[in-house]
Amino acid sequence: MVRIYARKYTVLVVVILFIFFGVLVFIASNVKSSDAKKPNHLSGRIHPEKMSNKLFPPPEIVPADTNEAKQQQNILIGNKVNDELRPKLEVNHNVHAFYYAWYGNEATDGKYSHWNHPFLPHWEKRISELYATGKTHKPPDDIGANFYPLLGAYSSRDPVLLRKHMEQFVLAKIGVLVLSWYPPEKADEEGSPASEQFIHSFLKLANAYNLKVCFHIEPYAGRNASSVKEDLKHIIEQYGSHPAFYRTKDPRQLAVNARDLPLVYVYDSYLTPAEDWNKILTHKESKNSIRGTEYDALVIGLFVERAHKETIRMAGFDGFYTYFASSGFTYGSKQANWMSLKLYARDENLIFIPSIGPGYIDTNVRPWNDKNTKHRDNGNYYETSWKKAVEGDIPSFISITSFNEWHEGTQIEPAMSEKSVFVDHILGKPKSGTFQYESYGKNPDLYLDLTRNWVEIFTDMKH
Ligand SMILES: *[C@@H]1O[C@H](CO)[C@@H](O)[C@H](O)[C@H]1NC(C)=O
Repeated sequence: MVRIYARKYTVLVVVILFIFFGVLVFIASNVKSSDAKKPNHLSGRIHPEKMSNKLFPPPEIVPADTNEAKQQQNILIGNKVNDELRPKLEVNHNVHAFYYAWYGNEATDGKYSHWNHPFLPHWEKRISELYATGKTHKPPDDIGANFYPLLGAYSSRDPVLLRKHMEQFVLAKIGVLVLSWYPPEKADEEGSPASEQFIHSFLKLANAYNLKVCFHIEPYAGRNASSVKEDLKHIIEQYGSHPAFYRTKDPRQLAVNARDLPLVYVYDSYLTPAEDWNKILTHKESKNSIRGTEYDALVIGLFVERAHKETIRMAGFDGFYTYFASSGFTYGSKQANWMSLKLYARDENLIFIPSIGPGYIDTNVRPWNDKNTKHRDNGNYYETSWKKAVEGDIPSFISITSFNEWHEGTQIEPAMSEKSVFVDHILGKPKSGTFQYESYGKNPDLYLDLTRNWVEIFTDMKH
């Protein structure tokens, strides 16, 4: 059709096409240039540009065979934890760890998610072109991470796997799983949201281990202050009555009878202007505020830049966290600034939740980002971050980045000590060969062990 028409009106069509493509190029270059302005952390953790409504079936929660569990572990872990053993599950509910339930594999889900992560482009084309940008990893052996999980390329929907994770939380004495969360029907780029059914099963399982679950609200497309208020309503209505739903006293309130409140972390909260947050978070009379309503919560914003001293306060957040486990990646994540952040928090009556981590390496998904690598130094990096977090004012809560963010190498979950794979693209370079995964040395549980020690120290300090 076009061809016949074009013969007659060639010139006109060429002109129209020219204008049409001109507009396309203009739009495309604008999209790019707004990307180019993004600071590094914005191209950071997996962003939810693409939506997906593919929900996975919920895991079937199999009741634990308590006798078998008893043989395997000194502590009894399972759905039927009896009361006499319950005190052994001595986790600290003031210690929180960021948890990702976005992994999928063929055996459980019919396809891989997240393990087959692509090499992400750099915002400058010139740099991207040096790497195998867009090529994806090929699990199970070749995964988008610099370390390889001891439990393999697992599925977050596998109930046996979830049990093992919960056991690891208990072993490390971490009391709260901070679940990466998108509203129903929204997802991260790699597309495997935690469905509502999944979350119900997750809560049920967590409860058996004396663990609590709170939510890490991700920056989905279209997120704003009022949609987050709706999210809070949704979360509290759906899960608020579950015994494993995390509630805690506001540490700023001295009254013993102060009401327990839910606590939520809001990732990339600075994407929404402070004055918009203030509409839902203000303590003054306002029809939109959550304060004093049944949806009131301790809302924790993300502190990135120095300028956020102003915006966190203006927004009306109850407190702030720093997320990034690469010290110096941002002002907030720089451990040397934590003393100053503690003073700021004290002055402004805010809850400061430092985010500590074992190191950072993401070069198997962002091959151009080695400047942000923080080597683990055999556990020393992690121990230093704990020390910095508890020095001076002892924080009410500690957050750990992360339990299992494998792409960024911030996980404390056990990793294999010896693992290599033959790949076409070593760290994104167009070169084939054997890729050797990093390890924690001889002890795959090193970071669970270190965590347990530090949680004990932290717990004693608070008494
Ligand atoms: C906030 O987001 C919701 C849903 O994405 C939308 O309906 C609403 O108009 C937005 N409100 C503002 C003030 O932008």
